Amino acid sequence: MKPKNRVVFFTVLVIVALTLVVSVSVIAAKGGGEISGEYYGTTIDSQDVFEYTLTNGEKGKKAMEVKIITYGGIITSIEVADQKGEMANVSLGFDNLLDYETKNPYFGCITGRYANRIALGRFTLDDTTYCLDINNDPNSLHGGFVGFDKKVWEVTKAEVGPYGPVLELHYLSEAGEGYEDATCADGEAGYPGNLDVYVTYTLAGNELRMDYVATTDAPTVVNLTNHNYWNLAGEGAGDINDHVLMLDADRYTPVDPTLIPTGDLPPVAGTPFDFRTPKPISNGIRSDHEQIVIGRGFDHNWVLNRPSPDDETMILAASLCEPQSRRRLDVWTTEPGIQFYAGNFLDGTLYGPSGHAYRQGDGLALETQHYPDSPNQPDFPSTVLRPGETYETSTIYELLINPGNCRTR
Ligand code: GLA
Repeated sequence: MKPKNRVVFFTVLVIVALTLVVSVSVIAAKGGGEISGEYYGTTIDSQDVFEYTLTNGEKGKKAMEVKIITYGGIITSIEVADQKGEMANVSLGFDNLLDYETKNPYFGCITGRYANRIALGRFTLDDTTYCLDINNDPNSLHGGFVGFDKKVWEVTKAEVGPYGPVLELHYLSEAGEGYEDATCADGEAGYPGNLDVYVTYTLAGNELRMDYVATTDAPTVVNLTNHNYWNLAGEGAGDINDHVLMLDADRYTPVDPTLIPTGDLPPVAGTPFDFRTPKPISNGIRSDHEQIVIGRGFDHNWVLNRPSPDDETMILAASLCEPQSRRRLDVWTTEPGIQFYAGNFLDGTLYGPSGHAYRQGDGLALETQHYPDSPNQPDFPSTVLRPGETYETSTIYELLINPGNCRTR
């Protein structure tokens, strides 16, 4: 080899070696961690439930720990450090299965088959009308009386993958599910189609990623999300009114008095719904704006800013910061909307694992989703899934120590 070629050869070799070292260290930094499962309890109808613990970081130096039970795919705890390195559980929940079975206001769960409301529990698909449970009078909410949040899911994977610990849950929702006592004399009962659903939780560094995949054997509607209630100061630490929130949305979907979208997509500008620049949640939560009065505070869907209506890339939807602990949550999603629900219906009658009563506003949900009542709103992005298609959606909850203010868009 000529000296000049030798120089080129070694330079290329060094560049390739450096690239390999950098990419391996990124995977190593993201990967590692552990996953373990143990018996959690037995349901009222005698099904065994297990709890899986996902931790990241090196043994003894965990930076984040997430616990998930096979009942409802519920996240029972998310422990993460504050600015002083002190860990706290930032997720509202219970310390026992019976409370999850009998009292859960959707803490931490997978919500489906249709997250959020369907007006009057009815929708028409391909000329057939389907009737669902009216479990939130006069509407159907979060899949009906026994939604995905109340099913025992099968564990199909529990392993440490290249990015960290992975838990994959599976549930087969049979045609007709979501119907118990609604009356719909001339229509079909329950959701059509057998829906085969996989939900995968991956803890990659301080990112908890949720991937949802579903297929059907007949046309149906699907809208899946997670309904974790966050309090970045720690569950039971008080209300979330001082949390600062950014939502990257120029528009939202105002609702009628039963919380069904009117179909309009007005701008947030000049209203309490304008979170484009981060602001404390207290700013606007007691406004006399008609929509705040209807929602008893914030309980609305925001239309996320996307380059085009059919864009499904992963975008930053929300950033939530708590000023004392300096914990920050960034929510990334492939979904078109996000429901910000400020825990308006918590009333001090439920007790969390630390023994504190949860009062109004003691936690908030950021539910990435398609807009409420889409099956009845032809102008909203479609939630119809047909045989041969695959429903795929992902959301990332990234927990950080906030170096300054809440993230701006
Ligand atoms: C959703 C809804 C709220 C409420 C909660 C559960 O977030 O938008 O209106 O029903 O679920 O309490």
